[in-house]
Amino acid sequence: MRFDDRFLDEIKSRLRLSDVIGKTVKLRRQGREYVGLSPFNKERSPSFFVNDDKGFYHDFSSGKHGDLISFLQETERLSFVEAVERLAGEAGVPLPAPDPEAAAQDRKRQSLSDWLDVAAAWFEAELRRPAGAAARDYLSRRGLPESEWSRFRIGYGPAARTALKDYLVAKGALPRELAAAGVMIVPEDGGEGYDRFRDRILFPITDHRGRIISFGGRALDPKARAKYLNGPDTDLFDKGRVLYGLHEARRLLLAGGDGAALVVVEGYMDVIACQRAGIAAVAAMGTALTESQMELLWRLHPEPTLCFDGDRAGMQAASRAIDRALPHLQSGKSFKFAIVTGGKDPDDILREQGAAALKAQLAATTPFIDALFTRERDAAPLETPENRAGLKQRLRAAAKAIADADLAAAYRDALLQRLDTLFETARRPVAPVGRPSAGPGSKWSRNAPEIPTSARPQSREAARRLAGSMNPTAAALARQAVADPGVLDNHIEALQSRGFGDPALDGLAKEIIRVRLEADHLDSVALRRHLSQAGFSTLLIDVDRAAAHAGAPFEKDDVTLAAARSQWSYAFEVLHRVAALEDALTLAKLDLAGGDSASVLIGLKKERDSLQRAIKTGSIWTGEAES
Ligand code: UTP
Ligand code: MN
Repeated sequence: MRFDDRFLDEIKSRLRLSDVIGKTVKLRRQGREYVGLSPFNKERSPSFFVNDDKGFYHDFSSGKHGDLISFLQETERLSFVEAVERLAGEAGVPLPAPDPEAAAQDRKRQSLSDWLDVAAAWFEAELRRPAGAAARDYLSRRGLPESEWSRFRIGYGPAARTALKDYLVAKGALPRELAAAGVMIVPEDGGEGYDRFRDRILFPITDHRGRIISFGGRALDPKARAKYLNGPDTDLFDKGRVLYGLHEARRLLLAGGDGAALVVVEGYMDVIACQRAGIAAVAAMGTALTESQMELLWRLHPEPTLCFDGDRAGMQAASRAIDRALPHLQSGKSFKFAIVTGGKDPDDILREQGAAALKAQLAATTPFIDALFTRERDAAPLETPENRAGLKQRLRAAAKAIADADLAAAYRDALLQRLDTLFETARRPVAPVGRPSAGPGSKWSRNAPEIPTSARPQSREAARRLAGSMNPTAAALARQAVADPGVLDNHIEALQSRGFGDPALDGLAKEIIRVRLEADHLDSVALRRHLSQAGFSTLLIDVDRAAAHAGAPFEKDDVTLAAARSQWSYAFEVLHRVAALEDALTLAKLDLAGGDSASVLIGLKKERDSLQRAIKTGSIWTGEAES
């Protein structure tokens, strides 16, 4: 719908800005203006100003500036049209009469959507009837309990050829409407129409307002021609402009407050898994993200997380996403990347490891620029000057692909800086203690710079910020294990049971164990090559960053192999002990309420705190932690 200026002015003249804003922000009068705490940033002293005469607000803490409409767009994440419709309602201004053609179109869409809603209700009911038994079994095998079905309006389309059509026609629908809505297929030869979704679990797809516009169906029969089948493009449904789960994701984002992430996953079940864990998630429907889907995402979040599988196909998809997004990047419009490891979907992680593990995996993200740099760095060998010049060229070309000139320049500088650091690091050996395991000879020195200590930022502060939440001690242990796999020989079982002590590294630990058990001799070079092929390159960059401020002594040049290994073993055991204590504390809290539990708890806590202090102060590395 279009609104002309007169209509918008009419709304603005009837509503006072300070009244509208005052509903969510506490405002205090100050001269001709109102001031309050910024709704965009957490702040202690007010820097948010509202001026009724001029009809705009200005927020000094974030630099945001706007009017009534943009205020609602920003704070409630509404689209322009939605904000205007809402304000028109509050102001009592009737919405402009749409032109008759558009009105007819709207009515037609509305009636199609109404039929889809009736269809969805019928699918939901079928899931609970005898015909739905196999579908119910399937859902329970996938860990989706009945209590969650209605939240996502999951249903079942039975195998009978025209069951839905018969039901809806009996309710008054015209066959041509059912075809137009995408639930009925009309054969080309003019034969009788039949149901599109037969013997499938059905996921209703909604628009941004939550109205059903199509369905996605998963086959129950493993021999079905397509495992997933979506409705066709219709007047309601334009696959490239819709994201599954968007309506609910918006609600979760609002509920989650400022730091909440918006995650893009691959499948319907993944969206459902994330949303069950309270994570705002959406999915494109079996295709790469389109430009208009990216715009939809950026309306809700400046830096949505694109989640991919760590296998080859997943890394290729991530690479395609980089290329598609690159031209459109702007300040406030970017992406982060999260790699789910171990060949799992978010849905598997939720089922097998729980919501906390899923959140941890999705929170370990790589910024766009690093994903881009890593991809280019790993695209070809870097052994000759020609190779290295090639990398430089690729980095320049990538930066150039960004349409926004300022950002393109900033990317070029940042990429070239990473490149300098990479080659600088290449001139000296990275991890001397790893050398012996590579055996004598020149192999190691030629391959030494495979992992970029490169991306290691200058200052500790910067490192801390970039590495996000990864535990530095765990990261240092992981980094060293890659540099000197021999250190793991006495710890394989412990590594198997608890990883390196940070859930973000669990996938890496698993993969290292797998390779270690397969190869009879594992050296650092081979391990690194394998890990980068298995899609761990971006994670390893994060590991490097986090490890950079762990203060581990084996990072230094003059440490003997034996000393490094003993330092590593000691720290590894301390980290495991802390994890075991955490578990014990949780259990103790659950099991022994009151009574003599208190002294037990205190003892455990004391030990945990002292070990954690040792980790913090670095005495863990010198074996001085009291236990
Ligand atoms: P996959 O075919 O990889 O399915 O499609 P999957 O994730 O392994 O399926 P499950 O977990 O066994 O059920 C990936 C996702 O892409 C979407 C689906 O949501 C699917 O989960 N998709 C795929 C479509 O929406 N339409 C398609 O035609 C294909
Ligand atoms: Mn899946």
